[in-house]
Amino acid sequence: MNAPTAPGATETALRRNAPWPSPKPVPALAGRYLNIEDLRLGAKRRMPRGVFEFIDRGSEDEATLRDNRAGFQRIKLRNKVLVDVSTRSQEIELFGKPMSMPLAIAPTGAAGLAWYEGELELARAAARSGVPFTLATPSLTAIERIATVEEGRKWFQLYMWRDRELSHALVRRARDAGFETLILTGDTPVPPIREYNRRNGFNSPFTFNPTIVADVATSPGWMWRVLRPYLLNGGMPKQAHYPNDAKGAQVRMVGGAETLRGDNLSWDDIARLRDIWKGPILVKGVHQPDDVERGIREGVDGVVISNHGGRNLDTAVTSLDVLPEIVAAAGDKLVVIADSGVRRGGDILKLLALGAKAVLSGRPTLYGTAVAGEDGAAHALALLKRELDTAMAYTGCREVADISPRVLWREAR
Ligand SMILES: Cc1cc2nc3c(=O)[nH]c(=O)nc-3n(C[C@H](O)[C@H](O)[C@H](O)COP(=O)(O)O)c2cc1C
Repeated sequence: MNAPTAPGATETALRRNAPWPSPKPVPALAGRYLNIEDLRLGAKRRMPRGVFEFIDRGSEDEATLRDNRAGFQRIKLRNKVLVDVSTRSQEIELFGKPMSMPLAIAPTGAAGLAWYEGELELARAAARSGVPFTLATPSLTAIERIATVEEGRKWFQLYMWRDRELSHALVRRARDAGFETLILTGDTPVPPIREYNRRNGFNSPFTFNPTIVADVATSPGWMWRVLRPYLLNGGMPKQAHYPNDAKGAQVRMVGGAETLRGDNLSWDDIARLRDIWKGPILVKGVHQPDDVERGIREGVDGVVISNHGGRNLDTAVTSLDVLPEIVAAAGDKLVVIADSGVRRGGDILKLLALGAKAVLSGRPTLYGTAVAGEDGAAHALALLKRELDTAMAYTGCREVADISPRVLWREAR
């Protein structure tokens, strides 16, 4: 739970830091893309169906995907009247460094299919907006290439492979390239079941088959903007960090190839990671308080409550469902971050009111990337920032530390 502090105290402290960039609407996009759903529809128009659905949809019956949105709409906000909110700030400090708003870009393996080297676009958008960017293990752009974006904070997400030496080598590369936070994803022990990918002929690494060829042919713009530059620069888009024996295989995201299996990941792995990684380590996908307690004992710095955006375990709980228990278990020993389903600034306010320190955004910035690369992702961040600002003003919050459960109303169960 956010500790109540004197209004303005955190803000003043942060202002003492050097000027920090902040999300700004992109004029060329502002008239057409008024919210994240507009960006989503723009992304849908620009991509082959198989690629769009890989990004957009969930697993199995998609109950969790729907519940993520429904959960935010079920919790309501209360006005707070006659509070002077004429100066407002969303800045926070996370792991000792400032952020322009309480949000970081989530790891998403598919950014490089939304735009040529889409991960680079996301890293640049994050840097110019003053929020951290997380590079995913299955990204199409390599760690060292992302490190060429000098500004901004970079985090690295790890899917631990059966071959630990290969995974540890990747972690060393991220460390040496200046990435500052490591997110170990714990919610994908086996590949999830996403039936639409099979129906669409969508595979990872991206390979041609009759279904996907017919699909891609309907998106000449995507072929030109995204696929063509890959073909001209070394071949089909493929995961940059995968070992060679897995690069050509149909690995179906994680775990499909033997080397990439992740089903023997355990808490024992944390100690070895700690030897390599001195910065913050977060475990992603946490739903149970005893996992928080174990995390504290193993020396991790934070947890990400997540159902992977409804893409993995169907009918999994939402972050809103379990936040209070997780926050109570974490106390002041662990940082709690939450994601899955954030599409409006008001959603961010709700997660923070229940005690999250910050949120991750997955699809919103991916949709933006598909529409206009770096500018599109930056625009998505600006939309969320503006909506959060509005929600904060209405609920009487001048700064993030003012956000507390008092802004919420839930129907008694
Ligand atoms: C296309 C796509 C690819 C993803 N790839 C990864 C990944 O490689 N590693 C990971 O930990 N999470 C991955 N995620 C999950 C996100 O990190 C995040 O938990 C989720 O997107 C949050 O939900 P949201 O999309 O509703 O914001 C992916 C999500 C999407 C949409």
